Amino acid sequence: MEHYFVEFSYLFASVFFIVGLKSLSHPDTARRGMHLAEIGMLLAIIGTLLHKEIVSYQWILVGLVVGGAIGGVLAQRVAMTALPQLTALSHGFGALAATLVGIAEYARHGAAIEKPQMIAIGVEVLLGALTTTGSIVAAAKLQELMRGSPITFKGQNYVNLGILAVALGAVVFLIFSPGAAFAFYLMLALALVFGLMLVLPIAAADMPVVMSLLNAYAGLAATATGFAINNNVLIIAGTLNGFSGFILSVLMCRAMNRSITNVIFGAFGSAASPATAAATGEAREINIEDAATQLAYARQVIFVPGYGMATAQAQHVVRELASVLEERGVTVKYAIHPVAGRMPGHMNVLLAEADVPYSQLFELEQINSDFPNTDVAIVIGANDVVNPDARDNPGSPIAGMPILDVDRARSVIVLKRGKGKGFAGIENPLFLKQNTGMLYGDAKGTLGKLVAAVAQA
Ligand code: TAP
Repeated sequence: MEHYFVEFSYLFASVFFIVGLKSLSHPDTARRGMHLAEIGMLLAIIGTLLHKEIVSYQWILVGLVVGGAIGGVLAQRVAMTALPQLTALSHGFGALAATLVGIAEYARHGAAIEKPQMIAIGVEVLLGALTTTGSIVAAAKLQELMRGSPITFKGQNYVNLGILAVALGAVVFLIFSPGAAFAFYLMLALALVFGLMLVLPIAAADMPVVMSLLNAYAGLAATATGFAINNNVLIIAGTLNGFSGFILSVLMCRAMNRSITNVIFGAFGSAASPATAAATGEAREINIEDAATQLAYARQVIFVPGYGMATAQAQHVVRELASVLEERGVTVKYAIHPVAGRMPGHMNVLLAEADVPYSQLFELEQINSDFPNTDVAIVIGANDVVNPDARDNPGSPIAGMPILDVDRARSVIVLKRGKGKGFAGIENPLFLKQNTGMLYGDAKGTLGKLVAAVAQA
């Protein structure tokens, strides 16, 4: 009876996970998707707690209180801009849990482990351990506790592949000689080192792709844990997690015109960036009144948000400016680049929070042909995603990355604090073009002033 209850709770949990994941694919239903997944997780936890194998509820309670308190406080306090590093850490902890389960299983059964289970434990510990250390390095780089630029040495890729090959060899050895504890702990140590070595050469700008890959590994480690301890919900949830992580990594790479192998083995950003083709001259600064007049008398304005909008938390005031313009009969659209910001969907989440109608959000392919018919493109803290060098200069480090063609609008207003570069660390000739006016200052403050000035124009 109890067994059926547990399996049913796992089945329902899996359905909630699948429907939740599906709902996450659209901004309108994303919030509901999160809640559905949370219900799924609660069901899975309840089912697991009713499992007859549980030895002590006291320790589980202690873990629940301590872990819940740390997680709750962290999630409440973390700044929106530090979310990527928090995500990296949570992948790391998930992977650590999978690794520890694998170690415990090995310590408990050792030489008695059958071949299929040894494969599962091997994959679990290998992926879990490399994800743990890889995620910690990713979080440290993003939090700037470590140098964000690639840390490289000669022959690095060969050394890394060598470490991975020996670790994989140890797993194969264990399948045939499960009692060989030295091979198990050697594999564990090598996997921990491999995780470090994997992420050290990767620049902070590529970190979201790597994190999504690590997320996929953590998911697959959970799947392997499911096989190792015979737990269906872990197999299903881990697989969903693993493959959605892989798909996301591929989508991000496509949006940056990079291949996954290039992200992992390329050490992007380590070479000195060649000078941009047109990056000479001075940027033209404009004042609030000039900008307000341009906006107020435009027929169509396209807002182009980027990472700076997130740091300034300017999404609400962006929406206010849009409303003031719409009241004057201006058509307002938002152009969303797939890798604007620092997380997939970063801009969509922020704009949805500010109640921007989803029908006004346009993806790159939909909006690019609209720029030449647009009176003003207003760039709010975006840089790399509007860098025309990616399109026009084959020597640029971001050559080939699809961009939003804001430079083709009749005029461009760029909101940024100063001469700061984007994440790729390169110059942007858009700022030097004749039809571009720079409005310096924190985006939130500048937009607030623009709202007032447009209302009076
Ligand atoms: P970035 O190129 O990073 O540029 C952000 C700009 O915002 C900076 O030039 C900065 O200039 C400005 N800024 C910062 N704080 C500001 C504030 N408070 N007010 C006004 N402006 C502010 O941003 P982007 O165009 O969104 O491009 C994203 C980058 O991240 C791309 O290189 C992309 O490949 C990379 N990336 C993203 C992802 C995902 S999934 N989103 C994944 C991997 C890589 P100042 O310092 O002068 O203000």
